[in-house]
Amino acid sequence: SDLLLINGPNLGTLGRREPEIYGTDTLADIEAAVAEEVAGRGWKVLSVQRESEGELIHALQDGYGAAGAIINPGALMIAGWSLRDALAAFPPPWIEVHLSNVYARESFRHRSVLAPLASGVIVGLGALGYRLAAQALLAKVPA
Ligand code: DQA
Repeated sequence: SDLLLINGPNLGTLGRREPEIYGTDTLADIEAAVAEEVAGRGWKVLSVQRESEGELIHALQDGYGAAGAIINPGALMIAGWSLRDALAAFPPPWIEVHLSNVYARESFRHRSVLAPLASGVIVGLGALGYRLAAQALLAKVPA
């Protein structure tokens, strides 16, 4: 099966994007780390990064058969209502990840409209958060 790794706007530039906030790992580093976590279960990582909400919705619609998903929606956490509807209809378990501790930042980042639908949320642990999300999905999905 596939594990869907979804990253939203401005996450393709990880490594050079405000590294003091988001760290120096690139998206390729994160993809490799997640792939390493789930390889033992035979899961393949299908990684999708898009700058626009509609394209992320397409990726979710195409991914109904995935074993699970990890999603960092970027700023779509704040008002991504269409993405929220897409996630409400998305059957596999999924975990929301934010690299930074959004609660320690501007107040507009304190509420994710997606988080109430997630199996779990991981914030503030940097790239490690993606690995932990992968471990949680492995534990959640029966082998
Ligand atoms: C982010 C936090 C969001 O508020 C921000 O818009 C991002 C990155 C994170 O991973 O910390 O793009 O999702």
